Amino acid sequence: MSYYKHHVFFCLNQRDNGQACCAQQGAQAGFDHCKQIVREAGLAGVGGVRVNKAGCLDRCAGAPVAVVYPEGVWYTFVDQHDIDEIVESHLKNGKPVERLMLAPEVGR
Ligand code: FES
Repeated sequence: MSYYKHHVFFCLNQRDNGQACCAQQGAQAGFDHCKQIVREAGLAGVGGVRVNKAGCLDRCAGAPVAVVYPEGVWYTFVDQHDIDEIVESHLKNGKPVERLMLAPEVGR
């Protein structure tokens, strides 16, 4: 059994050269909100959910992006409601949110 049931990585990478990056698309707010509601829902910790910051995950064209392991499900999100849905459906109930999944061809 893995140490965490779900391990979530949010790209928070900031680019100053005008290229697309997650930091310019609300990544920090999504990360902060996810951390908060995972904690409030009692999901955080060993055997539960861990939410971590990440650098560039090389899928910048879909910014902001996050990935959930061990399933390897990639998400793009717009606002806190999207994060709420990912937490409730995927992290709490094990059902990935299809409408927020990153298309497979999205790269840098
Ligand atoms: S800047 Fe976020 S995936 Fe590259």
